[in-house]
Amino acid sequence: MGKYCYSILHSCKVITDHPANNVTDSIFQKIGINLHQQPAHPIGMIKAAIHDYFDRQHPGSFTKFDNLTPVVSAKANFDEVLVPADHISRSPNDTYYVSPDTVLRCHTSAHQAELLRQGHRAFLVTGDVYRRDSIDATHYPVFHQMEGVRVFSPEDWHAAGMEATQFAEGELKRTLEGLAQHLFGKVEMRWIDAYFPFTDPSFELEIFFNGEWLEVLGCGVMQQQILEKNSGPDQKAWAFGLGLERLAMVLFDIPDIRLFWTSDQRFLKQFKTGDMSIKFKSYSKYPPCYKDVAFWISDAFTENNLCEVVRGIAGDLAEEVKLIDNFTHPKTGRTSHCYRIAYRSMDRSLTDDEVNALQEEVRSTVADKLKVELR
Ligand code: PHE
Repeated sequence: MGKYCYSILHSCKVITDHPANNVTDSIFQKIGINLHQQPAHPIGMIKAAIHDYFDRQHPGSFTKFDNLTPVVSAKANFDEVLVPADHISRSPNDTYYVSPDTVLRCHTSAHQAELLRQGHRAFLVTGDVYRRDSIDATHYPVFHQMEGVRVFSPEDWHAAGMEATQFAEGELKRTLEGLAQHLFGKVEMRWIDAYFPFTDPSFELEIFFNGEWLEVLGCGVMQQQILEKNSGPDQKAWAFGLGLERLAMVLFDIPDIRLFWTSDQRFLKQFKTGDMSIKFKSYSKYPPCYKDVAFWISDAFTENNLCEVVRGIAGDLAEEVKLIDNFTHPKTGRTSHCYRIAYRSMDRSLTDDEVNALQEEVRSTVADKLKVELR
């Protein structure tokens, strides 16, 4: 690990003892791995393919960043992109806090304001982002995003004979439709109206792939306030943010999001820098092992906290945590949840003893840390 990574780890460790810190060891260990910087890894390959598209469309215009630290101020992650004070994404149930005013970025939008202040007018930022979440084949608490921003001046929209917002919206949509085509070939696409605090109007792009509509990115015309405060008056900008895992799973036929983190050569060997036509061939799938845990919940219980406990103990051996029973006792009013945990390794068969030991630890930790009563 380079010096740069070390300094992040160090600064993170120093404040690990802060009572507000909810970054578990398994999350902490992901900082500095930087899958997006590995050219022959599917995440690095998708990044390169998108860079390639922007380089062809606008040679030399977009500045690329892929090593900005994921440890950012809450101000940059939320306030500077106008996330309201009571927005759910600010809650420690959803975001990893290192201290009350420092977080692991939950989106690459955290860098919009600082890069505008530095004077950049067209940029792409790729990085690892962190969100507390449920456990299944498409959700993982660390994933990768790319942010794109482009700023326009009055000459741009005047030359087109258009009003500023309409001009930016049109340019944004054309750019992203072109990108989707560059990645997926001829595909059906549709625009959905959306809401983001930092853009207005806001949209999501969906593409039709393997029989279903799939959301691939969020975008919109940047809120004027962000631009005025950090860049200056008389400008207009667009911004987008897209999830690299999502795109890579679709493009390369990768069935489980945990595979991106494996060091198994049977996975890694299948990919080659620049070859976007590769389809992943699953190697033998080892059998899952299911274990249930049931308990009476308290008001403070959240599923994200349960998932964090499970991940903290089983790591990537936890494939899914699913609520299979939920009832409230008619007399006592107490609510009981039963969760089914699927344990499975991507690389080998798990033994009964091993899974039983994990499940026992999950049970005792759940009872101890989540203030629930096991049944
Ligand atoms: N930050 C948004 C997300 O993580 C994506 C986005 C970026 C939307 C920029 C609009 C503009 O979902």
